[in-house]
Amino acid sequence: MHKNGQKFFVTTPIYYVNDVPHIGHAYTTIAADVVARYKKLDGYEVYFLTGTDEHGQKVHQAAKDLGVTAQEHVDKLNTRFKELWVRFNICNDDFIRTTEERHKVIVLNILKELFDKGEIYKASYEGWYCTPDERFWTEKDLVNGNCPECGRKVEKITESNYFFKMGQYQEWLIEHIKSNENFIQPASRKNEVLGFLSKPLEDLCISRPTSRMSWGIPLPFDDDYVTYVWFDALINYISTFGTLDKIRACGFWPADHHLVGKDILTTHAVYWSTMLKAMGLPLPKNIFAHGWWTVNGQKMSKSLFNVVEPNSLIDQFGVDTIRYFLLREVPFGLDGDFSHKALIGRRNSDLANNLGNLLNRTTNMIQKYFAGTIPEAATAGEEDTALTSKAAQTVSNVRAFYDDLAYNKILSEIWELVDATNQYIVKTAPWNLAKTEEGKERLKSVMYNSAESLRTIAILIYPFMPESAESMNRQLGIDVPIEEQGMQSVAKWGGLKSGGEIQSVSQLFPRIEDKEAEKILADIQTSGDSKKPQAASAKSDEVEQITIEDFMKVDLRTGKILEAEKVKKSKKLIKLKVDIGNETRQVLAGIAEAYEPDQLIGRTIILVANLKPAKLMGIESQGMILAGSADGKIILGGFDQELPEGVRVR
Ligand code: MSP
Repeated sequence: MHKNGQKFFVTTPIYYVNDVPHIGHAYTTIAADVVARYKKLDGYEVYFLTGTDEHGQKVHQAAKDLGVTAQEHVDKLNTRFKELWVRFNICNDDFIRTTEERHKVIVLNILKELFDKGEIYKASYEGWYCTPDERFWTEKDLVNGNCPECGRKVEKITESNYFFKMGQYQEWLIEHIKSNENFIQPASRKNEVLGFLSKPLEDLCISRPTSRMSWGIPLPFDDDYVTYVWFDALINYISTFGTLDKIRACGFWPADHHLVGKDILTTHAVYWSTMLKAMGLPLPKNIFAHGWWTVNGQKMSKSLFNVVEPNSLIDQFGVDTIRYFLLREVPFGLDGDFSHKALIGRRNSDLANNLGNLLNRTTNMIQKYFAGTIPEAATAGEEDTALTSKAAQTVSNVRAFYDDLAYNKILSEIWELVDATNQYIVKTAPWNLAKTEEGKERLKSVMYNSAESLRTIAILIYPFMPESAESMNRQLGIDVPIEEQGMQSVAKWGGLKSGGEIQSVSQLFPRIEDKEAEKILADIQTSGDSKKPQAASAKSDEVEQITIEDFMKVDLRTGKILEAEKVKKSKKLIKLKVDIGNETRQVLAGIAEAYEPDQLIGRTIILVANLKPAKLMGIESQGMILAGSADGKIILGGFDQELPEGVRVR
């Protein structure tokens, strides 16, 4: 394939390793994958980076609650992201983890260099700290006394810490943003950053005392501190290449696009830009902040249990339908709402009806009229010229829209060409041409042009739907994969070779019939599918049914709580002594955030009495008590009248 000698570097955020991967994460990663694939097709040498952010308080706490080391915990969890990206056909060149040695070494070098240059200093600090977000705020940042980011309570903390002299770069940064029009996109988000910078910019606290938080990279100049998780994480964009010298030599720097969600624009536009300035490295060409997905109108979050589980979606609809839907449904930069109904709608109208039908009717007619061999174009009528110029226009518009990552406009342009080709077939009416000798000559051109248009469409949709595009290409009897044909092969009409043999393959996008759609939507309603996170390995959206015998295997018993105490160093766990009639059990329950131990004593609960004992934080738990949760609030299951201990519940 033709190479243009240019390099292209695109990144996603590195995702918090203990998050359950959901379509929000998939969205950014697919968006990066599309532009990476497009640039490759256009002859660029591409470097596409993603990964996981593995330090910080939340990981530390989660590992502690599970009774494993933080490293064991992250080693296990990062694979959920890696495996999902393989399923989504993500073509990343590197997957970086912040607990890897290669990353830690670079963070240490950078910290040392900045410290030696006087960019980092130690001072006593008083500020408002949001523990879940692991961020300090000043008094003026707070909204109604709470964290401006997540709205949760903040605590006042006074301690000595290390600071990066971020404030000194305020004027320079404002100037940089204003004079580089595309540095922050979309424009509305750029204005938000400028708004943020209109208030005095403080220095950035880049350390956390190990006494409070030890799961991080120790500061090279003071063992009593670890590096603030954001300062550590942002450096992943450098550590993937190695040292600063390697960065300067690799030709990929600076990034063409850092794709981020709108939630983390400030950390990129302000922290990252000033860090780079201090290091003497060029700033990214573009930081693009996209919007947020809600699900059926609700914010996606683990605690709300309405995560849309991407593995199940892939099982149900296929990878390409989801890749297409996410980028077609909502303009990149705006918020969007995910619904299965809209997904099915797009699949049926755009993919099955418009594109699928065009491919089927064209290949079927070539089979029927030319025994499957692509004919040679002979004549060029008015309709043909209209179609070829529409295709040329489409290619040029698509190219231009990539500059602004306007994915939905790119797809809508391509679908205009799909429609124009369908209309071309209707206007030229091949079924009538086939009836006469003269018509048969014309039919050759019509079939050739329809197939050539489909070849163009396949190349244009390839970045979005790589599997389907390659399959279309094969069906058109082309044995050179799209990846090798490149964008230059659609620079002019006529790239399709006559004489190629149409291959029949199974239908690309079978229509989801009304009955099936109704069933999918009803299942989602009843199973609350869109409300429950599922294991990454879950194979389908369907709720598995069990028999009464299966259910009876679970030994549920009433139990009276005799003793309750909080487990030391755990936020969530309470240790209970429970009387279940003929014996007393020690049970650990993750309810400390909802109940005080005193409230529990004397209560009758339901215990899973035949659960294999397990150790949490080194303490044995001999059973599990039942509870429900809504909006993050945990409520214990129980009875509306007294029952003795040890009664079987069924
Ligand atoms: N670890 C930091 C990023 C460090 S980058 C140096 C982080 N991780 S995260 O797991 O919370 O992922 C954040 C990113 O996931 C968002 O910026 C966005 O790209 C994506 N999304 C998470 N939830 C989302 C939605 N509901 N909708 C769309 N994208 C969202 O922040």
